[in-house]
Amino acid sequence: MERLAPDLLETAMSIACAEARKWLGATSPNPAVGAVALDNKGAILALAAHHRAGWMHAEAQLLQACASGRLLRRVHTLCVSLEPCNHFGRTPPCTDAIIRAGIQSVVVGVRDPNSAVKGGGIEHLQQAGIDVILGVAENECQQLIHAYAYHARTGKPWITIKRAFDRNGSMIPPAGQKTFTSPESLRLAHRLRKKADAIITGSGTILADNPEFTIRHVADHPEKKRWLAILDRRGRITGNYLASAKQRGLIPVIYKDIEAALTDLIAKGTQDILVEAGPVLSQAMLDVGLWTMKIDIRQGDTDDVQTSFNPAEAQNIGAEEHNLDLMLPP
Ligand SMILES: NC(=O)c1ccc[n+]([C@@H]2O[C@H](COP(=O)([O-])OP(=O)(O)OC[C@H]3O[C@@H](n4cnc5c(N)ncnc54)[C@H](OP(=O)(O)O)[C@@H]3O)[C@@H](O)[C@H]2O)c1
Repeated sequence: MERLAPDLLETAMSIACAEARKWLGATSPNPAVGAVALDNKGAILALAAHHRAGWMHAEAQLLQACASGRLLRRVHTLCVSLEPCNHFGRTPPCTDAIIRAGIQSVVVGVRDPNSAVKGGGIEHLQQAGIDVILGVAENECQQLIHAYAYHARTGKPWITIKRAFDRNGSMIPPAGQKTFTSPESLRLAHRLRKKADAIITGSGTILADNPEFTIRHVADHPEKKRWLAILDRRGRITGNYLASAKQRGLIPVIYKDIEAALTDLIAKGTQDILVEAGPVLSQAMLDVGLWTMKIDIRQGDTDDVQTSFNPAEAQNIGAEEHNLDLMLPP
């Protein structure tokens, strides 16, 4: 069977990634995955993404959509951003569903870095006589699973420290205000929250701002629960604040030590943590190297956004190039 042109496959994979990004943060501890089915001219027959752990995987949903629309016979190529799973987890193996559906050509963005499935999915498809192409739109697919892949490689969550600085280089907002950045920067901050499993903050921020830590500038994933880890050695956070945080859907936990907080958040299964703290705690985490990505927003006529990565983690970061729009949900 003739393969579709490489540029058609790149475009299709990019569309699959865009669909998957809508669910970034909702699928944890599973990765966000997108898939498209193409006909023999490269036209899209169906598009799907994984929505939530325990729910159908992207490929299974795609095949179901094709079958119910009587489109299966027209599927020439199935593109999926991550290597199809080859094991029984909460759902049966996608590789078997693809083989059973009679798909002859599968395009995969990246291999699954999870050691439980490493390599097995692609080899299983090939052994069934399916033509597999690996590495299409690889960089975009890598960025989609940055936190999942980092966690699979290191056993640690991806930690983003986000800081905003005013025109004078201060992180402290003017009296009576909680923020000073542009609407676009606020949207960025809320997209970072949207993909996070946990938010780390300090008592200083809570006492100064009584922050909600909810997602308001973009639509949140329905039913997503996030840990709110509060560093508060002196016990200054009130029961009222904790109760109101719970009412907003957060799960607040008080810690007295950063390392203890991280150990506990790892045990709770978090893969993606956002640090939204004042200058003291943010700097403390940078000083001990407990960060993966740092986002500094500097107020200006248009705010400047600078993203950097922990050099000590370079081999675990994954993609060679990063673009926040490809790493965050819309
Ligand atoms: N511009 C921004 O991006 C941004 C973001 C958030 C907040 N803020 C602003 O920051 C200001 C508050 O500043 P801040 O520096 O006091 O807030 P913070 O960093 O959020 O909180 C400081 C508190 O965190 C705890 N802490 C710090 N380091 C720790 C460590 N190594 N181990 C355990 N606990 C630790 C301490 O609690 P104990 O005192 O109990 O020891 C400390 O008082 C507010 O005005 C807020 O608006 C700005």
